Amino acid sequence: MSIPSNLPLRNDLAGEEPYGAPQLDVPVCLNVNENPYPPSPAVVESIVERVRQIAPTLNRYPDREHMELRRALAHYLSKESFVDLEPEQLWAANGSNEIMLQVFQAFGGPGRTALGFAPTYSMYPEYARDTFTAWETVPRKSDFTLDVDAAVKAIAEVKPSIVLLTSPNNPTGTPASIEEVEALLAACEKADVEGAPQGAHPLLVVDEAYIEFRRPGKPSATTLIDKHPNLAVSRTMSKAFAYAGARVGYIAAQTGVIDSLRIVRMPYHLSAVTQAVALAALDHTDEQLAQVGHLRQTRDDLVQWLRAQTYKGTPLTVADTDSNFVFFGVFDDRDFIFNRLLDRGVLIRDVGPDGWLRVCMGTDEEIAEFKKAFVEVLRLAEQR
Ligand SMILES: Cc1ncc(COP(=O)(O)O)c(C=O)c1O
Repeated sequence: MSIPSNLPLRNDLAGEEPYGAPQLDVPVCLNVNENPYPPSPAVVESIVERVRQIAPTLNRYPDREHMELRRALAHYLSKESFVDLEPEQLWAANGSNEIMLQVFQAFGGPGRTALGFAPTYSMYPEYARDTFTAWETVPRKSDFTLDVDAAVKAIAEVKPSIVLLTSPNNPTGTPASIEEVEALLAACEKADVEGAPQGAHPLLVVDEAYIEFRRPGKPSATTLIDKHPNLAVSRTMSKAFAYAGARVGYIAAQTGVIDSLRIVRMPYHLSAVTQAVALAALDHTDEQLAQVGHLRQTRDDLVQWLRAQTYKGTPLTVADTDSNFVFFGVFDDRDFIFNRLLDRGVLIRDVGPDGWLRVCMGTDEEIAEFKKAFVEVLRLAEQR
């Protein structure tokens, strides 16, 4: 990074680095929680066809309300989460990153605070910084589940405008139960908001980026939207839909929240090409969800396998996960494990509390490579 001092960069951005995990050209990339399986030939066909249809219209601005996409997302949620939402209760953007930035732009700002539950997704403090919103966290319990009592207390005391609950959580994989979401909602509905007019209550945003990987039978927080005007549930096509490169995220909430986001969105923020590509994937949801089932099995098998491994004579600790990644440790020198895996062409992620590492699900072949390399690295660690 080299920013000359004669540029009037915002004072609070001096010395900051762009966010992002390393993008290294290695054979086995298991570091950014992508879906390892590319879109199927049928999805590729639909993409080509849908983009072909809209290509002659690209001289015009796209539908800035992206109504066809919002209808398709509502239909998807009715099948995936058994919830009936109107298209007006959905809103899409370029990845859930952009959705979340819009949430902070609309509900954060100077004099306001966003509250999260650490360890959690490392982008949240960046949205806060970029919108001059203060960022505070309440620690999770030692098994990374939510400390509901501490959370409820903090909501009353901090009076945040945004409460961010990540479920399943990143980097730990920990799901929040629907009862925990309800407890936080109840706390929000009683709490005031510092810096907002009397009568306003915190907005609870549940980040369900990985929700499709949850165990069957667990309800999504979208099922609570009907009764809670201060609830928003953010989702993405990056993970379950194998669409990280397409950049499509969306949020579900009552129309008051959606209308608030519409105030801050850039005009025509979602290109006609992005809308067409998103619709193409939504033509094939059954097939896509079947593949998610395979990744869930891959994850459960890997958790079991990791729990049977030892590090310097002690069995590994592996966090319970409802996601497409596994958080494991505890290593006295996680850099050693990370770097020796990288030497063997396997890239994972060194995020979260010291001593822990995160690996996301790969293809069956990639997971076999990871296991082979990891056994070698554990042996090296024993010899140190
Ligand atoms: C918890 C969480 N939320 C949101 C995102 C962003 O996803 P998107 O690709 O939709 O911007 C990620 C990405 O890894 C994530 O882990």
